[in-house]
This record gives sequence, structure tokens and C-alpha cells, in this order.
Amino acid sequence: MHLIETVAEMREWRKEYSEFEIGFVPTMGYLHGGHLSLVDRALEENDLHVVSIFVNPTQFGPNEDFKTYPRDLARDLGLLRCCSVGAVFAPPPSEIYPAGFQTYIDIGDITKPLEGAARPGHFRGVATIVAKLFNIVQPTRAYFGQKDAQQVSVVKQMVRDLQFPTEVVVCPIVREPDGLAMSSRNTYLSPEEREKAIVLYRSLHRAMDLYGDGVRDAARIKAVVVATLAEEPLALVEYVSVADNTTLQELEGEMSDCPEALVSMAVRFGDTRLIDNTVLGRPCEDIIGD
Ligand code: PAJ
Repeated sequence: MHLIETVAEMREWRKEYSEFEIGFVPTMGYLHGGHLSLVDRALEENDLHVVSIFVNPTQFGPNEDFKTYPRDLARDLGLLRCCSVGAVFAPPPSEIYPAGFQTYIDIGDITKPLEGAARPGHFRGVATIVAKLFNIVQPTRAYFGQKDAQQVSVVKQMVRDLQFPTEVVVCPIVREPDGLAMSSRNTYLSPEEREKAIVLYRSLHRAMDLYGDGVRDAARIKAVVVATLAEEPLALVEYVSVADNTTLQELEGEMSDCPEALVSMAVRFGDTRLIDNTVLGRPCEDIIGD
């Protein structure tokens, strides 16, 4: 496995394997089972594989956790060595954002609601880094998790609009055995918060059950999610949304015209911000750990 820290070296490596199909998994590191499921899928579908590890400063707001975001490159490299990944691209920030950097990608309506509303500038940072990584790595396929549902929509929109020759592959949410979606930020939770955080999954389950019983009233589904989260006093709800899974516009009333509805939420436990989601109207593919 090659550890590559400069753009020039990454381009050299890519040139050497220009005939190969490259599967690419962009990450911010502190790898867990969710990231590794993306790597596994990339391993199945491509000749060679690149994982990037870069905590991208431009996607964090001024009061967010950029400085404290968990980092452990040695541990991450150990995990990736076990999966026979070809190259790990882990550049320092100065390699990606050298002095004088001033070009960003702004995407329209799809970035406005949900995470975009809660975290102004977040998707500008995500789109910019993903575009830069696509230009540097030139992957055949790139792998993203459904855990960050709006990120998937934003990246797909950018790939379409800017005509990147990369296929975006979306992989299911990987959960801990009790249902909490795996996340690098779960390490911030105290033992008590960790235990209570399964309320997110419980609330999504209630939404799935209602939908399974034939309920199509978006307001009723949202109300049951909100009420379930309210059962847990440590959970501070930032938003709960039931939206059209294509446009991400909030659904009102009956959702019969909408083939897929995205139920999503952001919830704080102390200083830790967790997000989770499920899509109603298609089979749930979540992977629950054992
Ligand atoms: P990061 O949070 O490290 O996640 C990297 C990839 O892993 C994303 O596509 C994310 O959706 C996926 N992922 C995280 N947790 C998952 C889970 N429990 N199940 C399945 N997939 C999961 O997302 C980012 O980094 C950044 O925004 C990035 C795209 C790298 C740009 O900086």
C-alpha cells in the first residue's frame, strides 16, 4: 500500500495505472465499519483502490469541531493495509489549500435545506474538496454512504452539472448492533449519551412502522419521530424532516405523489451533533453490526 502525501505523487501513481479502473473512497479518517463497507464495495468493483484521508477545513463552520475532529492516521493505515488498498492519499492542508487559494464550488437548491440550512457553507466546502479530489485521483467510481444522504444528492448533482467522468456509487448505512449509525463523532459521546443515542434509530423505526401500516401523511410521520426523540431528555433536536428524496423539499400532507420520502434528523447530545436518516418507499438496506 502506498501512502501518498502530495498531489504530484498522486498524479504520478494515477498515470502509472491509467489503464485501470480505479475505485475511490473519500474520507476524513478515524475509520470505522461504515467507511470500511465503502472500501469493501470499491474492492469488489474495481481493479485498484484509493482511499483519501483529509479532514477538510472548508466544510466546517467557525464554531464547529474542525480542531477536535478525531484523527489517528497510524490506526487508519493499519485498517486499510488489512483490506489491500492500493494507495492512501493523505495530504497536509497546505497541499490542498495553498496560500492564495480562492476557487469554490457553489451548488444551488439541493444544498439549501436540512444540513445546508443548519451548517451554512458546509456543502460549498464538501463540493469543493470532492471536485478537487476527483480531479487529482480521476476515479472510475467513487463511493459515498447513505448516512450523509444530502451529501450524496449534492455530489450527484455536481457530477451531473460539471460532467465529471466518475460514477457515484451509494452504499447503505452501517449501524452498531443497537442501531446507532456508525460515525467518527460517536467517540465524543459519554457512556450515558452513547446509550441514549439509540433514540435516533428508534424514531426512524417508528416512522418505518407507520409507513408500513399504510400511513402517507407526512406531518403524522414527522410528529411520531419528534415525539419519540422527545422521550429522551438528553436529545436536543436541531431538525426533523420528511422530504421528497429527489428534491429534498419538505413534504406537506399526503405523500402519495412522492415515490420516496427521506426522513432525516440532526440531534445534539451535549456538544455532539448526530445525523441519521431512512428512505420510505424503498426497501431498507441498512447493515446492522453483530
Ligand atoms: P466522512 O464523514 O469521513 O465519511 C466518509 C464517507 O463514509 C462518506 O461517504 C460517508 O457517508 C460514509 N459513511 C460515514 N458513516 C457511515 C455509515 N455509518 N455507514 C455508511 N457510510 C458511512 O463524508 C465525509 O467524510 C466528507 O464530507 C468527505 C466526503 C470525505 C469530504 O470531505
